[in-house]
Amino acid sequence: MIDGTFRTVARTADGVRMIDQRRLPLEETYLDLNSPAEVATAIRDMVVRGAPAIGISAAFGLALGADQKVALDPAEFDARLRQDAEVLRASRPTAVNLGWALDRMLGVADAARAAGLDNAGVVERLERDARRIHDEDLAACRAMGRFGAGLVPGEATILTHCNAGGLATAGYGTALGVIRGAVEANKKIRVLADETRPFLQGARLTAWELQKDGIDTTLITDSMAGSLMRAGEVQLVVVGSDRIAANGDVANKIGTYSVAVLARENDVPFYVAAPMSTIDFDCPDGDLIPIEERDPTEVTELFGTRVAPPGIGVRNIAFDVTPARYVKAIVTERGIARPPFQDSLARMRDGG
Ligand code: MRU
Repeated sequence: MIDGTFRTVARTADGVRMIDQRRLPLEETYLDLNSPAEVATAIRDMVVRGAPAIGISAAFGLALGADQKVALDPAEFDARLRQDAEVLRASRPTAVNLGWALDRMLGVADAARAAGLDNAGVVERLERDARRIHDEDLAACRAMGRFGAGLVPGEATILTHCNAGGLATAGYGTALGVIRGAVEANKKIRVLADETRPFLQGARLTAWELQKDGIDTTLITDSMAGSLMRAGEVQLVVVGSDRIAANGDVANKIGTYSVAVLARENDVPFYVAAPMSTIDFDCPDGDLIPIEERDPTEVTELFGTRVAPPGIGVRNIAFDVTPARYVKAIVTERGIARPPFQDSLARMRDGG
């Protein structure tokens, strides 16, 4: 069984521990965070990143904050829990898993109160549900791996963008879960990892975790993808997502849209792998997905060294939207959704 040897995020006795993804691959270090505000800052600063991992971290952070407030008067406890949730929710805007996890946790707290539980009882339920969110994500990734492997030919070079791996989830990954599933099914797989400017999740994270697993991986710059597709060197593309609208439009790391258009032009199938928690049924189409813009220094500097002239105008758009018409299938833990996604995703949600 192929598996990572690192732990993306965990609830410890008195905090939340996460691998510091900003330092990978040069250093494998872990940070211990001791309050919901510290977890929110870690999400914003990309110590932890990737939609499912952000949701799990927020759930652990909320449980931690509740545990620290157990001695408060119940009304004060409830109000402070909601404040913590809003601090965590504001940390990053695009990944819907963040709000999904927080709303689920607040629902658990409300149900515990309605059942007459005291603060300690609410904390216990929150801790349990945060662990469940983590464990369900791991199980979802493994299921995506099994379903997705069926889309992969016996021998294939697969291109992926950003990092949708164990580092972006509880473990195993969504897009990288499909790749791991195909390898476990004894398919002969080579991976092309886009470096993913400007934060280099592909060069630093995807390359690191696939290399650790012994999966044949070649790093390319983002601008090489089209040329390699045209040369017939890519058999399929699989990426993750931060939010999928009800009609199947897919928000993912900036550059994904370009990859999808190039894939269409070159007859390369473009697949998306994401858990049901990434599908935002309240969002009818991709134009309504909030897109994060980040600090310009991520573009103007490389590892602290300025590479652009002072005073230059900069955009740092962190995500783009790929219209559903470019997506051949969406792999979830419930199976494979095909166009029209409006119908197939709704059927999946309803268990049909
Ligand atoms: O800015 P990031 O690194 O959080 O962006 C991550 C991505 O775009 C991933 O592809 C997405 O969150 C899916 S992770 C399974």
